[in-house]
Formats: sequence, structure tokens, C-alpha cells
Amino acid sequence: MENVYKAVKVADKVYWVGAVDWGLREFHGYATTRGTTYNAYLVLAEKITLIDTVKAPFQDELLARIASLVDPRRIEYIVSNHSEMDHSGCLPQVMRAVQPQKVFASPMGVKALAGHFHLKEGIEAVKDGQTLSLGDMELTFVETRMLHWPDSMVSFLSKQNVLFSQDAFGMHLASGARFADELPPDVMDYEAAKYYANILMPMSSLVIKLLERLPKLGLPVAIIAPDHGPIFRKDLDWILQRYAGWADRKPANKAVVTYDTMWGSTARMARAITEGLIAGGTRVVLMPLGANHRSDVVTELLDAGALLVGSPTLNGGMLPTVADLLTYLKGLRPTKLVGAAFGSYGWNGKAVGQIAAVLDEMGVERTGDGLEVNYVPDEESLARCVALGARVAGRLSERC
Ligand code: FEO
Repeated sequence: MENVYKAVKVADKVYWVGAVDWGLREFHGYATTRGTTYNAYLVLAEKITLIDTVKAPFQDELLARIASLVDPRRIEYIVSNHSEMDHSGCLPQVMRAVQPQKVFASPMGVKALAGHFHLKEGIEAVKDGQTLSLGDMELTFVETRMLHWPDSMVSFLSKQNVLFSQDAFGMHLASGARFADELPPDVMDYEAAKYYANILMPMSSLVIKLLERLPKLGLPVAIIAPDHGPIFRKDLDWILQRYAGWADRKPANKAVVTYDTMWGSTARMARAITEGLIAGGTRVVLMPLGANHRSDVVTELLDAGALLVGSPTLNGGMLPTVADLLTYLKGLRPTKLVGAAFGSYGWNGKAVGQIAAVLDEMGVERTGDGLEVNYVPDEESLARCVALGARVAGRLSERC
């Protein structure tokens, strides 16, 4: 049967041989509404080298794309830039199929791959800054610990000047196009921001260090080839400058108001707060959790300066959807936020205090103690909501 899976040329002797996962909709808590790709790359150097593999169910697609160029058994080296299973999931099977001379990973990668696959041998550690001759080309390895796993590293290919950047500079975006210059900028804008907010935001200080370090390494990067989404071969600043801005995090005069509601009272409060924010000159995104996924809330928060969270009290606590959001948000550690908690209650108003406590843990500068309304807000209560929005807007405009 004819092989339908073809490799795509990235540069002279460098090919994309990954897989497109059009149907993926969930990635450890992140709604991948446009699917994703697992990018792997084949370097046809004298020593043929595979950079990363793919998620296990896509092993056949990877091997077929490789086979469209060369017999996979001609691969001599495999480089594992990152051990998360979307990139290493089929590594043991590929190693069995290919029988490479060597597999390379960072020192932490060797441990991580052993922990995942219980491999006793066969993975060789490469150090930060180490180079590896592929015969007529050379790879340089740069450790990027905690971007976003302890084992992460990037690999730079000389001559073609390709930076294989693993998760960094990626996005979850399934597409028939392999290059950023072939895709709609507005779609990439959202998906790149979503990826940064949901994966890399807690490591922003390390992103800054990497962006400062890359030019000093003397590696003339002409192509950025990440492990997810499109490859950047033109206008690399498009993604580099976005990363610099997101990592530096200078919040805009923008607020995210998010809530869930039981019988509509907290929703009415949220809308009144939003009116106050708008009147105070703040750009607002109102995100009811019944209509917005947690990962989209985080995406909107990436450039926002205020976060307001609301829940009614249910059985002495906040609604599960709000707890879900806060658990997720806390881990992603957004910084430089002002905010407030709000919500309605019947006979026991616990939710607002609980939300306020989480906002405090997150380092959010709260405006007031939190706004509670018994049962259904009346005109006076709604006026207090508008006033809360105006106060947050005022504080935000002082900061921006
Ligand atoms: Fe795409 Fe951290 O794996």
C-alpha cells in the first residue's frame, strides 16, 4: 500500500516528520480546541538524526513520514529534547524499530526517560553547551531546565541554523500548514498566547533568561522549529517579541471577571461589577464559567491587570467550577494582579471568604474584603457591585 504520510522539508536536509492530532481536545486541563501537532524532525546528516518522537498512538505516522525519505533503520542518533509523553511516548518502540547507535537527552532527561520507560541503558546524557558531530553538521545542546520540565533542552543545528525548541515557542494548533507564514496571524496570536499562559507562565523568569542567553550563545537562529504547531522560518521576532512581552508581564488596563452562578444572583453581581469597571475606563472580559473553559480564562488573564472571581455559597463552600478554576490558576502563578471576590449566599456566606483566601495566596492585591449579597441583589446591592468595579478600575488605572 502506498504511504500516505510524507515528510515536509524545513531546510536543506531537515524535514518535519511529526504527526497532526486533529481531534485532541484536552491536554492536562488545557482545552485544545484546535487540536495539536507533535513535531519531530529528521536531519539527513551523515549521521541521520531524529529530533524527538511523537505521542504513542502516532508512532506509525512518524515512521511512515520518515520512511517517505529513508529507511528508518538508517537513523543513527535520536535526540530527546523533552521527556513528556507527547514527545517521548513512542520512543521505546522507535528505538526497537530503528536500533539507533545512540539516544541523547539532558542529564535530567536520562533520569526522566528511565522513570517513564524503565530503560536500564541506551540513553546518553549531553551537557549544557555540548556539541555533537553528525559528520557534516553539528548539534549544540542548551539546557532549558523547567521550561517547562526539569529535563527540557533545546538543540541547535549548525549550517541550517535551526533551533529545535521543544515546547518553547509552540502552540496547540492542528493544521495542514507546517509554517507560521502560511497560517492566519489572528489564530496564531490567540493560540500562542493560550499556550504561553497555560504552559509557560509560571516559568516566565526562566523565559526571560533564555531570551537573554540565546543571542549570547552565538547561534545564528534562522528557523525556530518547536514541538507543537507551526515552524517559524520568517519574521522570528513575531514569536520572540511576544514571548519577551508575556514573560515581562506588564499588565494592561484590562480586567477579567469570572464567576459561576446557581440561580442568577452572582451573575447579576458580575454584570453590575462589569458596568463599574467599564465606567472606570477599564477594558473588561466577562467570563461565566458555564460558557468559558478554565484555560481560556487564563489566556485572557495573560495581559490583564485585574481578576475578579465570584461564586455563590453551596454547602458551605464555593461552586466546584470556581474551585476548579482557582486550583488551576494558582498553579500558573499569574502576577501583578489587583482583584476582588464576590458572590451571593442564602443562609451561610462562606464562598466569598474562601475565594478571597485563594486570591491572597496568589498574591492578588484585593480591593476590599469581598462583596456578599444575601439571596438576590436589590438596587442598593447592585450599586455596591458597580462601586466595587469602579474601585478596582481606579486601582488598576493607578498601576497601568
Ligand atoms: Fe509538549 Fe511538555 O510536552
